[in-house]
Amino acid sequence: MKAKASILWRASLFLLTAVLIAATTQFHEQYRLQYHFTPPRNWANDPNGLVYYKGEYHLFYQHNPFGTKWGHMSWGHAVSPDLVHWTNLPVAIPEGDGIMIFSGSAVVDQHNSSGLCKSVDPKDPSCLIAIYAGHTETLQTQNIAFSNDKGRTWTKYSGNPVIDLHLKDFRDPKVMWYEPSKRWIMATAVSQERKIRFFSSTDLIHWTQLGDFGPEGATEGVWECPDLYELPVEGTNEKRWVLVVNINPGGIAGGSGGQYFVGKFDGAKFTNENPPATKLWLDYGKDYYAAISFFGGPPKDSRVQMLGWYSNWLYANDTPETTWRGAMAMPRTMTLKKTSDGIRLIQQPVKEFETLRTQLYALRNLTVDQIDRRFDRDGFKGNTVEIEAEIEPGEARDFGVSVLRGGGQETVIGVKPAEKQVYIDRTKSGDVGFNKDFSSRDAGPMHVGETVKLHVYVDWSGVEVYLNDGETTLAERVFPGPDSKGVKFFSDSGATRVKTLRIWRLTSIWK
Ligand code: FRU
Repeated sequence: MKAKASILWRASLFLLTAVLIAATTQFHEQYRLQYHFTPPRNWANDPNGLVYYKGEYHLFYQHNPFGTKWGHMSWGHAVSPDLVHWTNLPVAIPEGDGIMIFSGSAVVDQHNSSGLCKSVDPKDPSCLIAIYAGHTETLQTQNIAFSNDKGRTWTKYSGNPVIDLHLKDFRDPKVMWYEPSKRWIMATAVSQERKIRFFSSTDLIHWTQLGDFGPEGATEGVWECPDLYELPVEGTNEKRWVLVVNINPGGIAGGSGGQYFVGKFDGAKFTNENPPATKLWLDYGKDYYAAISFFGGPPKDSRVQMLGWYSNWLYANDTPETTWRGAMAMPRTMTLKKTSDGIRLIQQPVKEFETLRTQLYALRNLTVDQIDRRFDRDGFKGNTVEIEAEIEPGEARDFGVSVLRGGGQETVIGVKPAEKQVYIDRTKSGDVGFNKDFSSRDAGPMHVGETVKLHVYVDWSGVEVYLNDGETTLAERVFPGPDSKGVKFFSDSGATRVKTLRIWRLTSIWK
C-alpha cells in the first residue's frame, strides 16, 4: 500500500516537473525569436487574414497543425492588442473535405453586406469574413468563411466556392473596401500567367470579374499573394495606389521575394506609372515574403501596416528550428515618398516596438574603434537588441556593425558608400549548412549623404535592417550558437565617426 502511494507520489512529482519545464522552456528554445511572431509548435508560412476588429489585431497564418514541414494547410491564429505581443489561439480554419485552406485575407463586414453576420446588437450588425483559396491538386477556387464571435470560431460558407474559374493556379485573394464605388474589391493571383485578376462585389458572395494586371516588373517566377492599397505621398497632397505582387522564384535576393508597383486604381483597373520593365522590391534580404496589409485599424489610426513571412521557399522546410518552423517578420508601417527615382515605399517597424525597449546604452561622437573599446570595457553583449546609429562614413569604403558574434560566428551588416550599397553577410552566421541556398550575402541600394542612418534589430535567430529611416530594408534569419552575443562596430578606416549611437535591450514578448 505504502509502496503504491510512493510510486503515485513520485509519478505526480515527475509530471509536475515536466509540465513546469515545458512551461518555462517553451519560447526559450534555441533559435526561438523573442519579439518576432512564431507559432507555438509546428509549421507556419504566409500571414493570412490580417484584420483589426474590436480592439484586436488578428494574425491568421498558413499552418500545418500536424508537423514542422509544409502540409495540411490550415489557418493558424493569434491575436494582439498592439501588433507586438501575441496570444496564440487554436487553429481557426482547418483543412477539410480534401481541400486545403491556402492564403487569403479577412475583412470586417461592417453593415452585414453578406447576410452572414448574426449579431444580436442592432447598433452593430458586423462580423468577420475570411476569404481564402481552396486548394486541391487540380483546382484552386476562392471561398469564404464567417465568424460571429470575434474570430474565435469559423464556419465555411455552404455555397463555396464563391469563384471558380476552373484554374489550377488561381489563389491568394486579398479583399478591401473601395469607397468610391461602394464595393468590395478582390485581387487574386493567376500565378502561372503572372497576372493579378481583380473582382468586385457588393456582398462578398457574388463576384464580378474586372480586368487583369500583368505581366510587368519581375516575371521570372510564379506570381502569388497580391495586395492593393492607397497611400498619401508624404509632403504632398497626392495619393497613389500600391500593388504588391510576390514572386517565387525570381526575388531580388534569390528564391521568393516581394515586388511592388506604384500607380492608379479606378475601382476596376490598376495602371502602373513606371515603365513596365521597372522592378521595385519591398525588401532586399532573403527572408521577406508574402507580406500583406491589415484590413482596418483602431479609430483615428490610418496607418497601413504590412506583415511578411520571415523565410524563403528555397530552404523554408529545412531551417533548424526544433518543435516549430517558420516566423513572421516585424510588422511595418508603409508610407510613400517622392525620391529622385520616383515615388517609392518607405518602411518602418511599427512604432509599438518601442515599448519593448529597456536599458539604453548611448554614446556620442566616437570613432568605431573607440566604441569597440567601450564595449570591451563594459563587457557589452546582447542577442535581443535594437541598434540605432548615425554614422559619418568619411573615407571608409566598408563600415557597419557585426552582431551575434562568438566562436568565429558573426552576422555582418555593412554599408559600402562608393557602391551605394547596404548588405547583410550571413555566410559565417552560425548553422548555414542545412541547405545549400542559405549561406548568402545580400545587398540593397541606398542614397549616400553626409551621414548614414543604420537601424538594426537583432533577435535570437534573425536580423532586420532599416536603412536611412526605412529607405531600404533587409530581413534575414540566422542560426547562431546560444553564446554568440557579441556586438562590434567596424570600418576599413578605423576613424569612421559614429555621431550618435543608441542601443536598447528589448524585452521578450513571450513572458
Ligand atoms: C505563398 C504560397 C501561396 C499559397 C500558400 C500555400 O507562399 O505559395 O501562394 O496560397 O503559400 O501555403
